[in-house]
Amino acid sequence: MKKSIIRSTGRALPSRVVTNDDLVELLDTSDEWIKQRTGIEQRYWVPEDQEIGASDLGFDASLIALDRAGWTPEDIDFIIFATLSPDIFFPGSGCLLQDKLGLRSTPALDIRQQCTGFLYGLATADSYIKSGLASKILLVGAEVHSTGLDKTPRGRDVSVIFGDGAAALCVEGVDTDENIGVIASCLHADGKQADLLFAELPASRLPERITVDLIQNSTRHYASMNGRAVFKNALKKLPEVTKETLEKANMKLEDVDLIIPHQANLRINQAYCDILKLDQSKMFNNIQKYGNTTAATIPLALDEAMEQGLIGKKGDVVMFTSLGAGLTWGGILYIFP
Ligand code: UT7
Repeated sequence: MKKSIIRSTGRALPSRVVTNDDLVELLDTSDEWIKQRTGIEQRYWVPEDQEIGASDLGFDASLIALDRAGWTPEDIDFIIFATLSPDIFFPGSGCLLQDKLGLRSTPALDIRQQCTGFLYGLATADSYIKSGLASKILLVGAEVHSTGLDKTPRGRDVSVIFGDGAAALCVEGVDTDENIGVIASCLHADGKQADLLFAELPASRLPERITVDLIQNSTRHYASMNGRAVFKNALKKLPEVTKETLEKANMKLEDVDLIIPHQANLRINQAYCDILKLDQSKMFNNIQKYGNTTAATIPLALDEAMEQGLIGKKGDVVMFTSLGAGLTWGGILYIFP
């Protein structure tokens, strides 16, 4: 039977490190507030004098993942690109990445599921593999948030949180009866709560998608978030989806070696861990260094957790979970081959 295994990972960050202190004057904030409320100490933002899009960071991460897998770009038979900050309005960043990889007909699919984008992407890759439609998939989560943030005190609640970054996975189908690879996926969405976290412009529903007046006299082109409501949703849905995914996999929480949750707020993840009555060492966090990189947080964390030797041995069990804009949320249980 076909199983979907992660053959390799790779990550890429822009060159510019932005510390909390760098934001104090710009946003009327403080290192203490940011650390206390979010756990974030620094994030990476693309340099202001260069045009770097999500597909550029995704390309750098992909080259590392491809090299580690021993694949050439020609080996890829499907590209899945998860981002909420595509390089341009259309076509999708997956097509732009495909071109950068020098490919001319490999299919490329963009996933617009924000913080849950990586999970939707991995579940999609798993379905393509299990249905026989593809066997070597390049899955990328990449964001350039910094060019879309309100960098004035008005936007400080959102702007201190988000960082730029990318990570890529080579996902491969293997024939085996062993209980390995993607074991269970649970995906959810609740569009009624779309306005808890959203960026409205450019909007096809307006007579003109974006105008000078809209940009100068409104904040509708910036991300807007009801932070407290998203926070509460996360603490309800993340434990729920953890249990649902475990049940689907026919496993117990004690079987999980490491939970890699979305990195939106260290306080969310610590409280989520407490709700599960789990030791904090069983949950991986790296938001301190990167901020919230949305579709890239989980693959970035996976790449680091493997690098640190926390997981990666045959039989290691990892659970990925996330909640974010949409609202969307989900869980995936994975066993290392
Ligand atoms: O990945 C997508 C999913 N997103 C999330 O999961 C985010 C979930 N939400 C959160 O992480 C938190 O709600 C935030 C970090 C966004 C905000 O933290 P909070 O503890 O909910 O703060 P708050 O928005 O309730 O604001 C508390 C105070 C306010 O001042 P007053 O009214 O009490 O005087 C804000 O004006 O903190 C103030 N504040 C700031 N102060 C300094 C808000 N942002 C900042 C800031 N620096 N950056």
